[in-house]
Amino acid sequence: MASQYPDDFVAGIEWMWGEGFLSPGGPEEVRALLEGVDLTGCRVLDVGSGLGAVDLLLVAEHGAREIVGIEVEPQLVARARQTVAGAGLSDRIRFEVVRPGPFPFPDASFDVVFSKDSMVHIPDKPALYGDVLRALKPGGSFVASDWLYGGGTEMSQTMTAWLEIVHLDFKMETPENSAEAMRRAGFADVVVRDRNSWYLAQVQDEIDCVSGANFERAVAALGRETVEHRIKSSSLKKEVVARGELRPCHLRGRKPS
Ligand SMILES: C[S@@+](CC[C@H](N)C(=O)[O-])C[C@H]1O[C@@H](n2cnc3c(N)ncnc32)[C@H](O)[C@@H]1O
Repeated sequence: MASQYPDDFVAGIEWMWGEGFLSPGGPEEVRALLEGVDLTGCRVLDVGSGLGAVDLLLVAEHGAREIVGIEVEPQLVARARQTVAGAGLSDRIRFEVVRPGPFPFPDASFDVVFSKDSMVHIPDKPALYGDVLRALKPGGSFVASDWLYGGGTEMSQTMTAWLEIVHLDFKMETPENSAEAMRRAGFADVVVRDRNSWYLAQVQDEIDCVSGANFERAVAALGRETVEHRIKSSSLKKEVVARGELRPCHLRGRKPS
């Protein structure tokens, strides 16, 4: 399988979102995502763990007892392992390289299934939510953020152009269909929280950090091609977020006891 996260692309993402983060918002957004959820003592599955910075937060700031991160890209897992070892947390956070498909864990293995902006890569949402439910212990929680689709039956040209330039195999669902798929899978207390207006403010910072006064510094660090790609990609993304076509959302559900 060809990598969707080659080194130059990852370097560009970390420039805008911070070292070890492949999604926006840093520790503050992880706090917002986990608002009202107590991870103390929990065994957590992180679906699409990337470079592992989020997993460090789940343990160091949010008190999770143990994290298992699953990830399809081996080079990201290699870096995540180094980061976690550097923080002295390898006994509490481990990573597995997996193939897309059902999670390689027995039923009822986790107190919490967590995911930050990764499920957009997984095309079969009903199967995914069914597997999340299977992997949770009764009474366990599903907490995720994801890139959802808020447009109509036909995507705008800007949305199509952004998806083309971003080169990732995104499969987006609407907030309504996501909530319905979670309920059908068997989740109780399903909540989908729209983060569109929060992200609209963030996406301008993404453009600013590689343009204007920051352009030459970014080119020196990342190379001109990566910087120009970032400016184009984030500018198109700002338009589709402003139109409500791209809708970052928080998803919550509980496995009935
Ligand atoms: C946008 S990144 C987010 C990474 C991390 N959660 C973060 O916030 O920094 C999405 C991640 O999901 C991973 N991914 C894609 N398909 C996957 C799958 N089927 N199972 C697990 N991880 C997957 C990608 O390789 C990538 O690292």
